Amino acid sequence: KSESPVVVVANRLPVDQVVAADGSVSWTRSPGGLVTALEPFVAGRGGAWVGWSGKAGEAPEPFDSGGMHLVPVELSEDDVDQYYEGFSNASLWPLYHDVVEKPEYHRAWWNSYVQVNRRFAEKAAEVAADGAIVWVHDYQLQLVPAMLRQLRPDLTIGFFLHIPFPPYELFTQLPWRNAIVEGLLGADLIGFQMPAAATNFVQLAKRLHDLPTKGSTISYDGRTVTAKAFPISIDVSVFDELARSPEVLARAKEIREELGNPDKVILGVDRLDYTKGIGVRLEVFLELLEDEQVEAPSTVFMQVATPSRERVEHYVTMRETIEQQVGHINGVFGSTSGPAVHYFNQSMPREELAALYRAADVMLVTPYRDGMNLVAKEYVAARGDNGGTLVLSEFAGAAAELKQAYLVNPHDKDGVKKQLMRALRADPAESARSMKAMRRYLAKHDLDHWAGSFFAALQEEAA
Ligand code: UDP
Ligand code: G6P
Repeated sequence: KSESPVVVVANRLPVDQVVAADGSVSWTRSPGGLVTALEPFVAGRGGAWVGWSGKAGEAPEPFDSGGMHLVPVELSEDDVDQYYEGFSNASLWPLYHDVVEKPEYHRAWWNSYVQVNRRFAEKAAEVAADGAIVWVHDYQLQLVPAMLRQLRPDLTIGFFLHIPFPPYELFTQLPWRNAIVEGLLGADLIGFQMPAAATNFVQLAKRLHDLPTKGSTISYDGRTVTAKAFPISIDVSVFDELARSPEVLARAKEIREELGNPDKVILGVDRLDYTKGIGVRLEVFLELLEDEQVEAPSTVFMQVATPSRERVEHYVTMRETIEQQVGHINGVFGSTSGPAVHYFNQSMPREELAALYRAADVMLVTPYRDGMNLVAKEYVAARGDNGGTLVLSEFAGAAAELKQAYLVNPHDKDGVKKQLMRALRADPAESARSMKAMRRYLAKHDLDHWAGSFFAALQEEAA
């Protein structure tokens, strides 16, 4: 039995299990910002990671990988339906993202969420050493802090929410709102991406539970719980180096050649998610082609839309809509020399993403709401040549930090068109200055800074 001094608890392990036709098992890196952010941190501390393997009904024995002790938690088909696809991704995800799509609330989903959260808490309680620091992550596991505290009062417990936290008026829709707040209050420190989210939570504790609060602290059950913002970041130097490597630079050049050496390449990279505003980008690009403000294929738009949560209804319908839009644009504006939109419903390895970032003149990031958006930060980190421009939604957490980007309101199509045209026509010297300023900011606010400041604050709570 392993007793780890640091334990991360997250819905997913940093690797997904892949079972080949011959029954052999291998592991690939799992998608999304959370894994990208935490993997180097846990590996550097010889910590343990408790999470799901990504396959229903599979619970491999704990194993070591990349300097981490990985502890799989089993989810049955039913758990995947109700806890993961249901409550986590069809109730909480839309509710916490400004109800961009309508959340559904089902009692069976909630019951499954409670059960699965308990399973995660029990596993964490098993692997944590005496007095260990346990760091619980994200909306799928909001009940774990209180459950874990009950099992192991000796632990110091941190929680970080990677997605936005909604205001009182939205959060209180949730039939199980009290249980979620109590679950989170089991932590010593609750981290959010934005100061406003931390304030939302403190207000909620006060209004809903009548708890005494002072600044960022809440008195609860004889303890003090702190709720503060710790905006997440990326491993800037690793990304910078990757994007400077001869292989990536050669691939970036090759990508432009394969596209027929266009004047301008616009790029989008997202999980195929309705919060990301991919449809808006396509509408705007179509209008610009129709207005003859841009011409294809001398200007092309590449969209990587990585498959995600493919059995959840809103994701199915969204994929259909996007693929129709792409088909329409290419039908009208494509030619024998190539399409106007290059669309990839595929997951790309980081090397390829780095090459795409280098090959793009404009990175278009237009979520309706996003906790942070690491892709925007990766683009900046990849542009060691100070080339490229970033168009960024005001509603992404990253907008509070990457202030020199062309900020847009994704609900305002004319505004997005205008900013995209400005980005396409930007004076290179001026955009180099903006890129430099954003790179300077990121160099100081990288992943280590994030994890280090959360950890330091957590240790302070423990003292
Ligand atoms: N990503 C990836 N391959 C892909 C698409 C995305 O590795 O095909 C990574 C991307 O580099 C980034 C993360 O997934 O690190 C996405 O994080 P972000 O915060 O932008 O969005 P999220 O998916 O967490 O909503
Ligand atoms: C976002 C969430 C993560 C999640 C990731 C991928 O980054 O904050 O918790 O892991 O998306 O989504 P998935 O449902 O595939 O785990």
